[in-house]
Amino acid sequence: MTIAIRPARAEDVAAIDALLRESFPAPDEAMLVRDLCAEGDMVLTLVAYDEVAARLAGAIVFSRMAVTVGGKQVPAVALAPVAVAPNYRRQGVAEALIRAGHDMLESAGVVLSFVLGEPEFYGRFGYDAAVARNFASPYAGDYFMALALALQGGLVPCGVREEAHHAPAFARLGTQ
Ligand SMILES: CC(C)(COP(=O)(O)OP(=O)(O)OC[C@H]1O[C@@H](n2cnc3c(N)ncnc32)[C@H](O)[C@@H]1OP(=O)(O)O)[C@@H](O)C(=O)NCCC(=O)NCCS
Repeated sequence: MTIAIRPARAEDVAAIDALLRESFPAPDEAMLVRDLCAEGDMVLTLVAYDEVAARLAGAIVFSRMAVTVGGKQVPAVALAPVAVAPNYRRQGVAEALIRAGHDMLESAGVVLSFVLGEPEFYGRFGYDAAVARNFASPYAGDYFMALALALQGGLVPCGVREEAHHAPAFARLGTQ
């Protein structure tokens, strides 16, 4: 199997939408991605593409967040969603998408990535609930994790509760 990780193109949009609808129990994630795109909050979308079968194997979306560190806005993203087609699971496709995304975002100067998900899965990429606890968010809790990508000197809490706001489309999850 030859899986290539590359930025999504216009011709991938329908296949990404279909993948999200097949991967999650409700269409919320597909609508989230549609809204993030329409509202200009998408930062990076990567696809895992099976070049032999000429079909989409997986996709990941990173969207813009409004995050403060030390009272100043820093470039930050939310990882959501990531999905891999059933036939391609447990072969490291999600891991390849997540690691490629982190590398590209770090090169672009993004300093923090947040995720809401399974600590066991995302912990292997360095996501840590202890880091996210420094930030006020409606998603705060054990499943809300953050990863410092390129934060020089790490994240130094300075007594101020920092803020982490997702793009507006997240507030509509489960309401449409
Ligand atoms: C979660 C998902 C993206 C993983 O894709 P994948 O390509 O199979 O992942 P990888 O092969 O890189 O890694 C698989 C590993 O992750 C683990 N894993 C997968 N889903 C997990 C979960 N929800 N919680 C904990 N671990 C999980 C598997 O146990 C496996 O570990 P192992 O190989 O050591 O047994 C895929 O199962 C999927 O699309 N699921 C439906 C959509 C979804 O739940 N997305 C994530 C929430 S946004």
